[in-house]
Amino acid sequence: MTDLGPVAWPPEPIRTERLVLRAPESRDRPAFVELLASPQVHTYLGGARPRDQIERETPGTPEQWPGSFVAELDGSMIGHVLLRRPARHRPAAMGKIDLGYLFLPRAWGHGYAAEACFAALDWLDNALPGEAVVLATQTANTASMRLAGKLGFVEVERFHAWDADQWLGLRPPRRP
Ligand SMILES: CC(C)(COP(=O)(O)OP(=O)(O)OC[C@H]1O[C@@H](n2cnc3c(N)ncnc32)[C@H](O)[C@@H]1OP(=O)(O)O)[C@@H](O)C(=O)NCCC(=O)NCCS
Repeated sequence: MTDLGPVAWPPEPIRTERLVLRAPESRDRPAFVELLASPQVHTYLGGARPRDQIERETPGTPEQWPGSFVAELDGSMIGHVLLRRPARHRPAAMGKIDLGYLFLPRAWGHGYAAEACFAALDWLDNALPGEAVVLATQTANTASMRLAGKLGFVEVERFHAWDADQWLGLRPPRRP
């Protein structure tokens, strides 16, 4: 992974209508373990690793890096929004910022992921104006495909990788 760019981190917590977006803290560890170990969350992400391995490997304070946002509802973590610039990507996405999102199944179907991702993208538009954002997801991941559309991502290409059909979307650069 390469640097997101010259952004101030951690940011002041971002408050949306129902959520708070903030950098990860040690109190989020159980939710990170739950997210990483959930077979449901990893249905379209190549499957979850065993929980005991995740328990062993997850540090006391989850890793901090610019663009890693915890989404909190009523004081508890419900999801993780990731903005990063992967060192390797599809040629059409190389060098661009990539959006990822993982929410706990109990938080699905309430619009929380959309609310959190809109807020994270707004933060990015202010912190690094003029950046295009890409997003890759399995075409079979209908919830993720719907979310990508809501967030303004448009199809760049479909491709086959990791034994599945994949979709690459792009959100054109925006100025705040
Ligand atoms: C992808 C993922 C984040 C989508 O979560 P989600 O809760 O379905 O997404 P949203 O926040 O957009 O919520 C959408 C649903 O909430 C419903 N909803 C309920 N109340 C709502 C409200 N107040 N505002 C907005 N939507 C609301 C919407 O109707 C919508 O349902 P629909 O899609 O059936 O029409 C979630 O499925 C997930 O974490 N999956 C596992 C990880 C993963 O695969 N990530 C993708 C890797 S790129």
